[in-house]
Amino acid sequence: MSTTFQLDTSTSRANPTPSPMKRLTIPAIRQRKKDGVTAQPIVMLTAYTARQAQLLDEHCDLLLVGDSLGQVIYGLPSSVPVTLDMMAAHGAAVVRGSFHAAVVVDMPFGSYEASPQHAFESAARLLKETGCAAVKLEGGEAMAETVAFLTARGIPVMGHVGLTPQAVNVLGGYNARGRTEAEAAKIICDARALCEAGAFAIVIEGVVETIAIAITQAVACPTIGIGASAQCDGQVLVTEDMLGMFERVPRFVKIYENIAGTISGAAALYAEEVRARTFPGIEQTYQPK
Ligand code: KIV
Repeated sequence: MSTTFQLDTSTSRANPTPSPMKRLTIPAIRQRKKDGVTAQPIVMLTAYTARQAQLLDEHCDLLLVGDSLGQVIYGLPSSVPVTLDMMAAHGAAVVRGSFHAAVVVDMPFGSYEASPQHAFESAARLLKETGCAAVKLEGGEAMAETVAFLTARGIPVMGHVGLTPQAVNVLGGYNARGRTEAEAAKIICDARALCEAGAFAIVIEGVVETIAIAITQAVACPTIGIGASAQCDGQVLVTEDMLGMFERVPRFVKIYENIAGTISGAAALYAEEVRARTFPGIEQTYQPK
């Protein structure tokens, strides 16, 4: 897919504005898994900005506007302080920058836990203000009622079990989950409850691999792994992690590029040229005609 597209100028009430192509839909993602088998694994990456979305869009089935933007973009110590305003602003940017992948926006801590009604208000705001296709929330059995409530009211929900970063203050850190039999059983129950409540997919983060495999076999909806297993129905990574923006990353991250090195190298060269007065050169300045 190139970045130049033929605009489809035919309009209808279902498609009122010309667009380069039809976006993937949430039902299409859900139906990737048929009778327990996902022939084409689901590709998801995080995106927080319009330009990042443009670059990732053609390669991904889902773009996740993760609340990990708290740490990655805003330098916050965890995702706990992230607000609905931040998610709405970044969600809208990612929708503007994409037209192929379905966009999922994370519901931030404090915007959905109190009641299904509160969750509906927050999720409806995200759908209206961003144009995203679905929301994601963290938690298992305790959130099943909320997932059912939102789904029944037209809001597709992606679940998130295992290591749930918004619960860092209860978990005490970001270590892998499910190392005891009781905890493993609880995570599997959580995933089952979300799927039965209507979640269209479930992120499984930071668990012992056997748990991710057991969940993937147990639930009808697709599972999307991060620190989970290649046997999940899809995978997600935080884009900045896999691009090498940070010196240290969790064990489950594979680094595909060294963007930090590239940025730092370019800045060093720029600084050198500014100090030597060799930038701007003749090509970058306006001369009399
Ligand atoms: O916030 C996020 O980026 C996430 C992914 C790591 C799944 O929830």
